[in-house]
Amino acid sequence: MRRPADAFHPDGSPNRRRHTMSHSTFPPGSIGRRKFLLGSAGLLTAGAASRFATPALAQTAPLRVGFMLPYSGTFAKLGKFIDDGFRLYVEQNGGVLGGRRIEFIQVDDESKPESATDNMNRLVGREKVDVVIGTVHSGVAMAMVKVARDTNTMLIIPNAGVNEATGPLCAPNIFRTSFSNWQVCHPMGKVMFDAGHRNVATITWRYAAGTQMIDAFKEGFTKAGGKIAEDLALPFPEVEFQALITRIATLKPDAVFAFFAGGGAVKFVKDYAAAGLDKSIPLYGAGFLTDGTAPAQGAAANGVKTTLHYADDLDNPANKRFLEAFKAKTGQDGDIYAVQGYDAAALLKAGLEAAKGDWSQRGAVVAGMRAAKIDSPRGPLSFNRANNPIQNVYLREVRNGRNELISIAGQAVDDPARGCRA
Ligand code: PHB
Repeated sequence: MRRPADAFHPDGSPNRRRHTMSHSTFPPGSIGRRKFLLGSAGLLTAGAASRFATPALAQTAPLRVGFMLPYSGTFAKLGKFIDDGFRLYVEQNGGVLGGRRIEFIQVDDESKPESATDNMNRLVGREKVDVVIGTVHSGVAMAMVKVARDTNTMLIIPNAGVNEATGPLCAPNIFRTSFSNWQVCHPMGKVMFDAGHRNVATITWRYAAGTQMIDAFKEGFTKAGGKIAEDLALPFPEVEFQALITRIATLKPDAVFAFFAGGGAVKFVKDYAAAGLDKSIPLYGAGFLTDGTAPAQGAAANGVKTTLHYADDLDNPANKRFLEAFKAKTGQDGDIYAVQGYDAAALLKAGLEAAKGDWSQRGAVVAGMRAAKIDSPRGPLSFNRANNPIQNVYLREVRNGRNELISIAGQAVDDPARGCRA
């Protein structure tokens, strides 16, 4: 099924999509069919998979991969692109990673931290997944990390940047193919200072990712000598930006640094331009402000500068191959979320190959994953002692709906992994 090119409504909310519900095997009264969905990347149906799930054949049984992602709400498109990117990689490998056929179970986490522990417990306990891939929202990810630690479940985080996951809560079974909130925003402090900005206002959603990204930017900016005019915030996922935009107009800072993503980012960038502020107060941000959202933001996004571990026009063969294949599969232009999903599958493959497909050999799996050197569409990708990516952070500018590379803001940026005792 193909999506329209613009996956957001004009008000910034994502278009809702229906999921394919083939191979669903849930008995009446179990987790709702709409929430949990089962499918196989290969030839085995779920029914066939359960027939093979005897101890003698355990190694030839499919590996059960649980996606816990937002398939609805302001981050819906982000979750779907992670899912699509992961599946693309598996398909390119014939449905098999490290000798194991891959089977998928999906849950819509709705970006709701209050449901996160239950959702994760069901995936791990009732669905008995081997590995969980999730999620986008830092608050939901925190709950997932806690369950993963308690149950020793392998967790690969394909977006959420919450610093703790690869900081004080780091663990051998918790990996990230995305970024830490610190990592993508810290380099922007120096970039904005060097651009001549001395007095900057910040704006974000008031939750873990927003707070940590703003803190990281401020750490870099104030260290360079900059001053913060004011920190503005509203609750997640609210999109009534008008009062805060009026406040920015009154403050008249040299520039603004923002974190929003998904549907909220579409609306913020449009509202900022509609108020005429784009003409007098340059808008900067974490790359999520415009990644996967620039086409829906239209002319309002032109000139917005952001830092991220990806740019649409990265001139490397892996990126060109990826963008072409993603477009052929989905009819959509790939973005950072799709890349992070794609690389999560590459990381899983590295672990499975190191253990010759035997998932019970956890030591070999972890060693293989930690040593992985992935030729990612984002550029070289490796992992630090806390299992967080080491990667380039790029300065980009939106030009005609694309996040174009301006320069490398930080080469092979490593997260300090503060508090990680691994
Ligand atoms: C997060 O909550 O960590 C988060 C959400 C959306 C993004 C980036 C980070 O685009």
